Amino acid sequence: MTVTVHPAAALAGRPALPADKSVAHRAALFAAIADGESEIVGFSDAADPQSTVACLRALGVAFEERPDVLGADGTPSLFVRGRGLDGLSAPDGPLDCGNSGTTMRLLAGLLAGRPFTTTLVGDASLSGRPMGRIARPLGQMGARIGMTDGHAPLVVEGAPLSSITYRLPVASAQVKSAVLLAGLSASGTTTVVEPVATRDHTERMLGLDVLVRGGERHVSVDGGTTVRARQWVVPRDVSAAAFFLVAGSIAEAATIQLSGVGLNPTRSGVLDVLRAMGADVRVSNERERGGEPLGDLRVEAPGGLVGVEIGGAIVPNLIDEIPVLAVAAACAQGRTVIRDAEELRVKETDRIEAIADVLRAMGADVQERPDGLVIEGGRGLKGAEVDARDDHRIAMSAAVAALVADGPTTIHGAEAAAVSFPGFWDALESVAAGSVEAG
Ligand code: S3P
Repeated sequence: MTVTVHPAAALAGRPALPADKSVAHRAALFAAIADGESEIVGFSDAADPQSTVACLRALGVAFEERPDVLGADGTPSLFVRGRGLDGLSAPDGPLDCGNSGTTMRLLAGLLAGRPFTTTLVGDASLSGRPMGRIARPLGQMGARIGMTDGHAPLVVEGAPLSSITYRLPVASAQVKSAVLLAGLSASGTTTVVEPVATRDHTERMLGLDVLVRGGERHVSVDGGTTVRARQWVVPRDVSAAAFFLVAGSIAEAATIQLSGVGLNPTRSGVLDVLRAMGADVRVSNERERGGEPLGDLRVEAPGGLVGVEIGGAIVPNLIDEIPVLAVAAACAQGRTVIRDAEELRVKETDRIEAIADVLRAMGADVQERPDGLVIEGGRGLKGAEVDARDDHRIAMSAAVAALVADGPTTIHGAEAAAVSFPGFWDALESVAAGSVEAG
């Protein structure tokens, strides 16, 4: 699908945001292995969390969508008949994780201690992403994970597992979560040591012990821990909100309001960086639901952004937002340097190269570094023809850039947005009437 985005001088409205993708995956997985029926309030119809649900269904877990049961924010609930870890059954065929790294890596951890063999497959993008990072620790615990050159298909041969203490060699919440989920089936206590904090939804949602020692986080889980059935609440996705926060911050005029957005401090680095660039983003009505902090956001056009340096410990907290922050940087006065972000090269696509290509096609001055980007901002963007490379965040970042270009921008592969944000194009049109043209 191709979308043409026309520039828009003024943005206003309350775009509907999708469910937080990271929390939605975990709610489905944890409810599936809980000891009874759970309700997930505000689940996601995005392709990635739906891949997780489809895989869990193939493992024998019943999910029932109840559009008649609405949460406080008006989103429908998903009911899950938890079977306990021991209740999962061998699937009839390979489990299709689609485009979703979280589905594949967390499921591999969950299935590593089950007494059957599962094959996990994915699309072309997922089949090119590194899986050795989970196969190594799961192998140390006693599971056998078959791969081809470190890539999917993954053949997870479940086995009795022993606990380990594992220090993360890359800052990855997916690897952390895979090891902790395997730890549920292991004998003894499994500990993951994080030199740099990554998103902490797994430990919050499972109520795991976290110790901070010498600046490192130690997250532990006891083998045999029962996950209690409960109500899980999924906030609106801050990673989806980021597209509108940047759009509002680079527009000539804007007032955009976003409600019920997850503000977990391990995810909200984008707010800190935008404020450091001079953005006018305000948070109100801060509250907690289901153990996750959330709030309402309001962004107004600040009348100019300035370049910043982004690097170090904040990077895992905004790793998914870097492509759209690069758009903000291209529109800011002065230089922005993004470093320590080499993980972007192994996301759904090489996002350093992909966003550099998009912005350069639109006339920006962008240089790639192995671990990031150097952007000389403030040169103005021109309309262009760009390729999203089947990556949802590149498609949506290109659309945000297109709003401030000097002419229409055609985005190929625009359908990728549905991986995390199926309503994106409608949401964009709702704040910038007449900007979105299909085809
Ligand atoms: C995710 C963790 C991050 C992030 C991804 C979702 C998660 O990946 O980029 O979109 O839900 O745990 P890594 O943990 O591989 O960095």
